[in-house]
Amino acid sequence: MKVNGRHYRTIWPKQANPKIIEIIDQRYLPHKFVVEELASLDDFAAAIKDMHVRGAGLIGATAGYAMYCAILHAPQKNFKEYLDETVCKILDTRPTAKNLSWAVQRQLTAINSISDPELRIQKAFETANLIADEDVDFCRRIGEHGLHIIRDLSTLKDGEPVNILTHCNAGWLAFVDHGSATAPIYAAHRENIPIHVWVDETRPWNQGSKLTAWELYQENINHTLIADNTGGHLMQHGMVDLVIVGSDRTTRTGDVANKIGTYLKALAAKDNNIPFYVALPSSTIDWELRDGLREIPIESRSGDEVKFISGLGDNNELTRILCGLSETPAANYAFDVTPARLVSGIITERGIAAANEESLLQLFPEYV
Ligand code: MRU
Repeated sequence: MKVNGRHYRTIWPKQANPKIIEIIDQRYLPHKFVVEELASLDDFAAAIKDMHVRGAGLIGATAGYAMYCAILHAPQKNFKEYLDETVCKILDTRPTAKNLSWAVQRQLTAINSISDPELRIQKAFETANLIADEDVDFCRRIGEHGLHIIRDLSTLKDGEPVNILTHCNAGWLAFVDHGSATAPIYAAHRENIPIHVWVDETRPWNQGSKLTAWELYQENINHTLIADNTGGHLMQHGMVDLVIVGSDRTTRTGDVANKIGTYLKALAAKDNNIPFYVALPSSTIDWELRDGLREIPIESRSGDEVKFISGLGDNNELTRILCGLSETPAANYAFDVTPARLVSGIITERGIAAANEESLLQLFPEYV
């Protein structure tokens, strides 16, 4: 997508030296646009864990390049042990997004039968690029399928803007490009369908106010930032026509794990008869899982992310401030699970499925 008129992806090999991978460091957005260079496995692990990059698709793409980087710097001896340690280090960063282990496994399969170190490096680089390119393509296709939902609502609203509520950032910053929940929004905007987006602030990390609002501003799309607890009120008063969110891990039965607070939006949408769609590439589907509540690992992060808030201070510098007492204990569950019964449909790269096993398998018969 565009930043000040120039097209960017969220991750790319440095043109002058593809041994280095560049990312947009999202910790500084929207106030500063910082590009960071990742050159070692430690750089990659820190970038994922400390959320320089975040969002399911981008976590996957970064894991793909992390594997390439590790293979690039592999020692001559004990490759197997080195690879095992590398995999553990990457998998240890963030537990919820399926894309992380999916990308690592994809690299392992790709290089499995190659013993020549140079050929192995070449294959790992190709595979990392493929994972990134595929992510872009899948999100673009999610946009095409999801567009139908917005177009139909627009027809019903007779030219009045379609009000779409989204939570967290399932935008292009959460992927390599386009985004999942935002892809249909961008597609509708390109078709000149009148839309307006309610952006949940998304405490504690504020992906909504910092990232989604910035994306929509860059693309000139009408939007309004709201505090996290506002959605229910808006829905009760007919001010939301559609909810679209993303997912970090999806069971084969259609349960979805997304940023903490998503479940409450789904409950409110159900109570108010508002369609609640989840847009996701198949790389987030964990075909091994059936019961999201019991089986999806939920990341727990530092309580400091709840106690402190960061932003631009009066001195125009990025500042971190403590909101309450430093002694107050804080819990920080990063994701929650929305059961399939609350999901109106799942928008994938292959089309829209009902949130159940049978319908998902009709789109992905190779997992029967
Ligand atoms: O903690 P984050 O910022 O990585 O969480 C991101 C989300 O919850 C997104 O909504 C999710 O990844 C789905 S879209 C990729």
